[in-house]
Amino acid sequence: MSGVVGYIGDKNPVEVLVAGLYRIKGHDSAGVAVVNDEGVTAVKSLGKLENLEAKLAAQPVTGHLGIGHARWATHGVPNETNAHPHFDALNEIAVVHNGIIENYQELRTSLQQEGVAFRSQTDSETLAHLIRKYYQGNLFKAVQQALRCAKGAWALGVVSRHNPDVLIVARQGSPVVVGVGDNEAFMGSDVSAIIKYTRDVVYLDHGQICEVRRDGIKVEDLDGNPVQHEVVHVDWDDSAAEKDGFPHFMLKEIHQQPEVIRNTLRGRISDDASDVNLSDINISEADIKACPRITIVACGTSWHAGMVGKYLIERFAEIPVELDLASEYRYRDPIVEKNAIVIPVSQSGETADTMEAVRLAKSQGARILAVVNTVGSSVARESNGVIYLQAGPEVSIASTKAYTTQVTAFALLTIWLARIRGTMTKDQAKDMIAELRTLPDKMQLVLNNQEPIKALAGKQKYRDAQSAFFLGRDYNYPSALEGSLKLKEVSYIHAEAYPAGELKHGPIALVTNEMPVICVAPKGNIYDKMVSNIQSIKARAGLVISIATEGDTAIQAYSDDVLYIPECYEPFSPILVALPLQLFAYYVAVNRGCDVDQPRNLAKSVIVE
Ligand code: M6R
Repeated sequence: MSGVVGYIGDKNPVEVLVAGLYRIKGHDSAGVAVVNDEGVTAVKSLGKLENLEAKLAAQPVTGHLGIGHARWATHGVPNETNAHPHFDALNEIAVVHNGIIENYQELRTSLQQEGVAFRSQTDSETLAHLIRKYYQGNLFKAVQQALRCAKGAWALGVVSRHNPDVLIVARQGSPVVVGVGDNEAFMGSDVSAIIKYTRDVVYLDHGQICEVRRDGIKVEDLDGNPVQHEVVHVDWDDSAAEKDGFPHFMLKEIHQQPEVIRNTLRGRISDDASDVNLSDINISEADIKACPRITIVACGTSWHAGMVGKYLIERFAEIPVELDLASEYRYRDPIVEKNAIVIPVSQSGETADTMEAVRLAKSQGARILAVVNTVGSSVARESNGVIYLQAGPEVSIASTKAYTTQVTAFALLTIWLARIRGTMTKDQAKDMIAELRTLPDKMQLVLNNQEPIKALAGKQKYRDAQSAFFLGRDYNYPSALEGSLKLKEVSYIHAEAYPAGELKHGPIALVTNEMPVICVAPKGNIYDKMVSNIQSIKARAGLVISIATEGDTAIQAYSDDVLYIPECYEPFSPILVALPLQLFAYYVAVNRGCDVDQPRNLAKSVIVE
């Protein structure tokens, strides 16, 4: 994920900024800007931070105030021009920004009409020009006024050559903290970026803006109302700080899901919330209308998300969808019809099998619409259009937030396709969008109430199981597949997933009183069928854990244990169901003493066959 850092004080700002940037995981470019007698001097570089360090060693910069940024591209390819800091036209105001400015096109066009020339393709540069527009000597007021015009998310740091004693920090959505020291102060996207220097921090809240000086800070909201702030002393050690206080990246990333789902939705929903806007994906309405079939290709977790996508698209957009494992597709001489669209799904965008499937489909004339997390990755570059997940980098090998954002991206794509194909009314789209928007808060409820999941994972009968089954039907068959993959990869328990209706055709022979069977059974069309499947397992003494909708007490009669999710719209239930499944796998693995973030034999990106 992109990250911001800042410093004001007597230390060499470059040293403080670079040390902070090293704590930000995953980036494609980086840069710093330092205020000194000559103005605001910026140094940027593409690639690893070592490249930036080498440049800074060759052209040392000094001063007492600076900001820095490690970029993980969202708008515009990774290059030095798109790297932060970004400047106003006079190169006097510099900004670093983490987040997404949703209305940047609108703002950009109106600034261009006023004569502003843009240098980069980023949404963030808009903020530098907007602040300049309102600047009349008071940087704090100018930033406040500029942000009142912006929509979206930001963790923002701003400096100006004419205000060498002040660093402006603002937050909406994307997290940012201010660190307080002795005659010095710091800014970081999280505590890990500044913990080397201070443990006294102020967590800014949504919609707040902070004027940071060496000897104190002032916080207001965007309308200029003063806000009381609290200095919190954190006593995390260094490695806990890197994970935001979580013991593992997997748990941190599980907890990031409400925020990243909001990011996936951000900017893709019309103002009246009745339509999805994917106009930037370079696939035209004519392409969609002419398409006889969609093929989704992916591996692992991304393939599971693709299966939810298939169910959604077929049901609501009424386009036939084929789903293939990329490793099979590339060798099985698939038939690519005229005007076909192929959708590769990938977190990394570098998976070798998925990449080769894309090349094959392209060579046969398909249009490629990728669902990818990593901007500028191979799959993204070779596709005609891309829906970026906006999940930020995933460090844990076990994929969590990439999965739920992939399913969310498919939900958006489905609504968009269905509206173009005329299979969904505006009112239906509105209802579905409203349901999608409720998901982050519902996910937060699950995360706030994870004690029962933790307790379950600690029970000896589950923790020490040799083997487990995961069952689901319809939208939640892929949930079962994903739950099973999570458990096996982090806890090394043998696990298999079945569509629940298939159990009686053989696998039920394996059910014993030592076999946990995790049954995904939220309320919905298929609920009664699921319950009869569960009863048949119970009749064979299987150990049933049901994942059910809050308020469903009836299911307790057939289950040894029940984990609840909030009530939700059935087609989007896989997004919620993923959380207890991920947490269960995580806590079982922790209880078994497994190396959760680095499971044996696995790599984060499978770039070889
Ligand atoms: O980067 P990709 O999404 O293309 O990766 C695909 C799989 O390798 C990946 O999802 C893998 O299955 C994960 N370890 C699952 O947690």
